[in-house]
Amino acid sequence: MNEVLKNIYTRASVRRYKADKVPDEDIKEIIRAGFHAANGMNRQAIEFIVMENKNSIRKYNRKAIILFAEMMKASGQPNPMIDKMVDDPNADVFHGAPVLVFVYANPSVVTPVEDGSLAVGNMMLAAHSMGYGTCFIGFAAGLGNDQEFRKECNVPDGHKYLACMILGKPDGNVEKHSRSDVKVLNWVK
Ligand SMILES: Cc1cc2nc3c(=O)[nH]c(=O)nc-3n(C[C@H](O)[C@H](O)[C@H](O)COP(=O)(O)O)c2cc1C
Repeated sequence: MNEVLKNIYTRASVRRYKADKVPDEDIKEIIRAGFHAANGMNRQAIEFIVMENKNSIRKYNRKAIILFAEMMKASGQPNPMIDKMVDDPNADVFHGAPVLVFVYANPSVVTPVEDGSLAVGNMMLAAHSMGYGTCFIGFAAGLGNDQEFRKECNVPDGHKYLACMILGKPDGNVEKHSRSDVKVLNWVK
């Protein structure tokens, strides 16, 4: 099996991290890999926020939990798991990762969800190939759209929030991801 395929098949979401700092050069490389993903009409609209400051991560973790719980309630689908996290001061949606990467699209974007997802996929595989762990954090959706957070992180008005990915050195072995058999609905020859 070639190295690219091996990298794909051995990546898994990581939810335990060492506190070690990730060198800036490595973060830049991983983001660059994200930016090099395919994107609609080559608008190159994907932009990033990198957060490493421990106090900020702590503060935004709490905020992410509260905002996500509010989002779920507002959508008419209150989630008991997230409600429990609101009451748990140790709950950590960022799994102790030393780096958070938020992904936004500037207004020139034509296919935001696709572009953001492909960028995160590239970043996950690039990070894994460099010995880092990652995980997509859907729980950060409320935070990424929050006015105060956006202002504090210098996100321009009109930028669309797309994703949050955590990054760092895995603490312990990375468990192999699990998948059932591939289903091919039809193969027309
Ligand atoms: C859109 C999206 C949102 C996710 N949100 C979270 C999250 O908030 N917290 C978390 O621990 N994992 C999150 N995950 C990770 C998934 O649980 C994980 O990818 C899935 O269980 C498959 O495992 P694997 O990534 O190890 O292959 C998310 C993944 C995606 C694609």
